Amino acid sequence: MASFNLLLLPGDGIGPEVNVEVEKLVRWLDQAGVAKFEIEKDLVGGSAYDAHGVSITEEAMARAQAADAVLFGAVGGPKWDSVPYEVRPEAGLLRLRKDLGLFANLRPAICYPALAEASSLKRELVEGLDIMIVRELTGGVYFGEPKEIVTLENGEKRAVDTQLYTTHEVERIARVAFDLAAKRNNRVASAEKRNVMRTGVLWHEVVSRVHREEFAGAALEHVLADNCAMQLVRNPKQYDVIVTDNLFGDILSDVAAMLTGSLGMLPSASLGAEDPATGKRKALYEPVHGSAPDIAGKGMANPIAMIGSLGMALRYSFGLGDAADKLDLAIANVLGAGLRTRDIAGPGANAVSTSEMGDAIIAEMQRLS
Ligand code: NAI
Ligand code: MG
Repeated sequence: MASFNLLLLPGDGIGPEVNVEVEKLVRWLDQAGVAKFEIEKDLVGGSAYDAHGVSITEEAMARAQAADAVLFGAVGGPKWDSVPYEVRPEAGLLRLRKDLGLFANLRPAICYPALAEASSLKRELVEGLDIMIVRELTGGVYFGEPKEIVTLENGEKRAVDTQLYTTHEVERIARVAFDLAAKRNNRVASAEKRNVMRTGVLWHEVVSRVHREEFAGAALEHVLADNCAMQLVRNPKQYDVIVTDNLFGDILSDVAAMLTGSLGMLPSASLGAEDPATGKRKALYEPVHGSAPDIAGKGMANPIAMIGSLGMALRYSFGLGDAADKLDLAIANVLGAGLRTRDIAGPGANAVSTSEMGDAIIAEMQRLS
């Protein structure tokens, strides 16, 4: 039986609470014979700072490098607002992303039929929605040099950020998008602004070539990023996979996310390059939400974003697509049966706790087996 090493980094606030539910589920998968899982755990963020004075230790970094996948909760909170900049909680996450070379950020936007009413759009526009935004994560305007604010001779200031992409950076993110699309409906929309940006021209050219030379069977559409934002709100189901740069991806993935309801429902994955020898990728899976200090410690957090992140690990790191499908179905069924945590329950309606939701999903997995 396949065997995997999983590093859990629960972090701060509700991170540890939702991680407990994932750990239960991993143990269930192990006992049910889906695969063998070795679980390790370590600190990150404020909890690592409290224990070690850093946001992640070298030891934890080494474990992350060695793991088949990292499951990350969330970091931060008012308790650490005044810690030094280099050791602030977020630094632990940024270090992980950088050292593991995680250049591809996958953000699914899925609308469960039972929650279609919670969307800001009409039910028929979002019911059954299932799109995947692939955002380039390590290049573009957030990192390009020069990046500075200078004071001019006349006393005015001038700020510069540089949008910068190389052929290699665009090629590798395009390949991730086409690979993913092949396992879905094989349709890719590539979003840039070639009408006004040189990086957009290069992006368009490279994505077109990767498509022609390596993935000619896929349907490729080029869309201007501003139009893409409009289309996501007008008719989101026209898309399957959307691939885009760091900045546009940041914005488009947040737009797509809100089509589906609560932050507590949204998983994500960040993938690195494939090791040519083993075919494995470094990977980190995490909910989109933060540490939610306002509800931490109350057993109210929705664990579905975290559990869905495990589902993505099953699919993209462990090759356990059947188990991932079953988990998606279990989540849909539990929601379909009316179970809701506070964030998705609607005013006045009954809500279940974090652990009740986690247990119900495991019970449904059991029933489906
Ligand atoms: P947040 O995502 O923690 O919370 C925003 C709102 O959504 C809150 O009202 C919260 O209660 C609710 N919420 C979030 N996740 C939920 C869940 N699973 N179930 C039910 N309700 C949920 O964002 P916020 O408040 O801006 O940031 C709080 C802290 O988290 C800050 O210290 C911030 O820096 C950090 N943060 C960390 C992230 C990470 O670790 N990747 C990402 C975003 C924020
Ligand atoms: Mg954002």
